[in-house]
Amino acid sequence: MAFLSIRNVFKSYFLHGKRIDVLRGVSLDLERGELVSLIGPSGAGKSTFLHVLGTLDAPAAGEVLFEGRSVFSMNDAQIAEFRNRTIGFVFQSHYLLPEFTALENVAMPALIQRGDRAKTYAQARELLERVGLGARVDHRPGELSGGEAQRVALARALVLKPAILLADEPTGNLDPATGEGIHQLLRDVNRDLGITAVVVTHNETLAQSMPRRLRLAGGQVTDA
Ligand SMILES: Nc1ncnc2c1ncn2[C@@H]1O[C@H](COP(=O)(O)OP(=O)(O)OP(=O)(O)O)[C@@H](O)[C@H]1O
Ligand SMILES: [Mg+2]
Repeated sequence: MAFLSIRNVFKSYFLHGKRIDVLRGVSLDLERGELVSLIGPSGAGKSTFLHVLGTLDAPAAGEVLFEGRSVFSMNDAQIAEFRNRTIGFVFQSHYLLPEFTALENVAMPALIQRGDRAKTYAQARELLERVGLGARVDHRPGELSGGEAQRVALARALVLKPAILLADEPTGNLDPATGEGIHQLLRDVNRDLGITAVVVTHNETLAQSMPRRLRLAGGQVTDA
């Protein structure tokens, strides 16, 4: 049984009387601890795919199975609980809370879960140091560069030590050296914490550096 399994998933959008078929029968198995890159043209459906994989968006047809269990068969509260416990997201837009500092943003998911405050802040600080932002913990998102904000979002996605990390272009706003640093960090958390990660990137070199490479095109996901 695969750790995470996508079975014949379809997803379309309807807008102004038009239907856009984005995912057209996607099937894929991910093993626990895999580190995977996902490439594909702009508009191919990479973000859509990550949202379905991460249970944020239900497919029109098909199934997402976590350890053999169909996640969309659960009720909304159960799905939300599963998502909070299991999945860390780095969205294409960082969605940091503007009125809170970098440290508070990273700590937030754990504070919401009522974790120990002192321990949570210590972990958040350590994660910010790992993404190279030890000197920016007191900055609010408006006082960070685009790439720094993206790195804060990555630290926030890791604070609850998720089993699965879904990252949508976490290096989109970064210079090559910082981008490589983030990919190194992804490799480290994959190896050290056993996190299963799917990373969308437009950077071919970084994509190639991942142990498994997927491509999304024509509504299908294939090994690249
Ligand atoms: N809410 C929506 N309503 C209608 N169409 C949408 C919606 N969201 C996305 N789309 C369309 O679905 C297609 C897939 O979008 P998606 O965001 O998944 O692409 P992507 O591969 O992530 O692209 P990029 O590399 O530019 O981020 C696009 O053609 C987009 O215009
Ligand atoms: Mg996208």
